[in-house]
Amino acid sequence: MSKTRNGTIAFWCLCAAALVVAVVGGSVIAQVTQGKTRPMKTSHWMAGVMKTSSGALRKGLSSTPADDKAWKQLEISAALLNEASYVLMADGRCPDAVWANAVEKTLREGSASLLKAIEAKDVAAAKTALSATTKSCKECHTKHRS
Ligand code: HEC
Repeated sequence: MSKTRNGTIAFWCLCAAALVVAVVGGSVIAQVTQGKTRPMKTSHWMAGVMKTSSGALRKGLSSTPADDKAWKQLEISAALLNEASYVLMADGRCPDAVWANAVEKTLREGSASLLKAIEAKDVAAAKTALSATTKSCKECHTKHRS
C-alpha cells in the first residue's frame, strides 16, 4: 500500500470517529432536554409539574392546612412529584448516575415520605420530607441545567 493510500484511509477513519462522537454526544444532549421519542420537553415538565408542585407544597405547609380539601391538594402535589421520579427516568432521558440518583433516590424516596406525612396530616414531618425531596432539584440542576 502506498503512503498516500494509508494517509487517505487514516483520514476517513478519523472522519468516521468524529461522526460517531458527534452523534453520540448530540443524543446525550437531546435526552436531557427532550427524551428520545415523545414530544414533551424536560422544561415543560419542570415548569408544569416540578415548579408548580413544589411551590404549592412549600406554600401549603407554611402554616397548618385549614381543612381536608387543603390536605388533599398537598397530597396531589406530593403524588405528582413521586410520579415524576418515574417520568424523568423514561424515554431515554436519563444520561448518567447523577441524574439517576437525584431521581430514583432523592426525589422518589423524599416524595414517598412526604406523601406518607401528608396522609398522616403531620406538618413537621411533611416539611422535613419536602426539604429532602427538593434536594433533588439542586442535585440534578448543578450538573444538568445549563
Ligand atoms: C434529574 C434532573 C432534574 C431534577 C431532579 C429536577 N430538574 Fe429541574 N431541570 C432539569 C433540566 C435538565 C432543566 C433544563 C431543561 C432545559 O432547559 O431544556 C431543568 C429546568 C428547570 C426549570 C426551568 C424550566 C423552564 O421553563 O425552562 C425549573 C423551574 C425547574 N427545573 C424546577 C425544578 C424543581 C423545582 C425541581 C425539584 C422539585 C427540579 N427542577 C428537579 C433537570 C432536573
